[in-house]
Amino acid sequence: MNYKNGKYKIESIYIRNLSDKLGTPAYIYSYNKIKNNIKKFKNNFQKINPLICFSVKSNSNLDIIKIMKKFGIGADVVSLGELILAIKAGINPKKIVFSGVGKKSDEIKYAIEKGILLINAESENEVIEIEKIAKKKNKKVKIGIRLNPNTDAKTLKNISTGKKENKFGIGLKDFLKIVNKFKNSRYLNISCLSVHIGSQITSNKPYDKMIKIIQNTIDRCGYKFEYVDLGGGMGIKYNNEKEINYNKYEKSIMNFLKSNDSKIIFEPGRSLIGNAGVLLTKVIYIKDGGIKRFIILDAGMNDLIRPALYKANHKIMTAVKSKNFINKKHEFVGPICETTDSFGIFPKFQKLKQGDILIIGDVGAYGKVLSSNYNLRPSSPEILIKGSKYKIIKKRQKISELI
Ligand code: LLP
Repeated sequence: MNYKNGKYKIESIYIRNLSDKLGTPAYIYSYNKIKNNIKKFKNNFQKINPLICFSVKSNSNLDIIKIMKKFGIGADVVSLGELILAIKAGINPKKIVFSGVGKKSDEIKYAIEKGILLINAESENEVIEIEKIAKKKNKKVKIGIRLNPNTDAKTLKNISTGKKENKFGIGLKDFLKIVNKFKNSRYLNISCLSVHIGSQITSNKPYDKMIKIIQNTIDRCGYKFEYVDLGGGMGIKYNNEKEINYNKYEKSIMNFLKSNDSKIIFEPGRSLIGNAGVLLTKVIYIKDGGIKRFIILDAGMNDLIRPALYKANHKIMTAVKSKNFINKKHEFVGPICETTDSFGIFPKFQKLKQGDILIIGDVGAYGKVLSSNYNLRPSSPEILIKGSKYKIIKKRQKISELI
């Protein structure tokens, strides 16, 4: 995914040509980038030999999940829909974990029927509900209890999950209480301690602290967990962010494993798919508003909401580079009737004209999945490139399907 002779290319395909054929806006993924991300992730934790469960919420395209399956990855799901999808993609239920604060009884029932590896519960009420359903089915069900370690992930406030003011997980006192209350249940097997402290984490500190708290919790429990599920959260470089030091993280987990005979589970989403996807968009109009040049695109916040929702900064690149720059503030905006429908302001930018194709970078995770039909705009297609071939893995929605 880079330029060759000034033209943006994904694998062997020039994007300018592809956009003519497929139209814009469109999400494009690179098969080999995903494959390399998986390989890198596995290498980073080679000594631990974890079970890696792809966080389906970050990208729930069936073909993408099939790639994960092909390379031995399991699934972390948070809804009945994601669970059905993961099974349809061929993922072995014994590699599926089910997270989320609000699982309904039909979702729990289905998970138990399919015999998934773990249901990670997030409240005592949920544990009671799982036990009730397991009893009805006369099955012993493996569950995890999600600990809220009250750890600041030092990431965007809106994607932080591990602090006590967040709705996720169970605080230490209640965690101990629940383990004690249910450890001898006929229908539940408390097999896992799970955590997930947040997303787009770029420093090791929160993880180090999290592991200390897990150790302390296990010591206080005096209970052996077959699995410790460390969640996901590993950040990627959208611009100049740092990545965590994987070597250091692996070492601290190895250290933890010296005194704990547990299998480690990870639930990465962004780190496997984030940088493997781009959003193609076309310049519809250019409006010189005096102090700013507005570049009006055919992709809006309904296609990619991260900038509007989290003030996230995604790179904006041209499909064809030129050296001709305009030294004026450029704001890239969508067609939606909202002021927050903006992809960012740049102090200067390459000279653009109507019809030019732009590429918004690193949208493989939490891009398409967070898109909507706001302003009654049809959902964009998804395309997977592998070498010199491409496949439409989700068609562009038709307006007739929306009415
Ligand atoms: N496990 C659990 C329980 C989670 O809640 C999440 C993400 C993950 C794993 C995967 O985290 P990752 O490795 O992708 O960081 N929409 C936001 C991100 C929300 C993350 C929600 N939970 C964004 O666009 O940045």
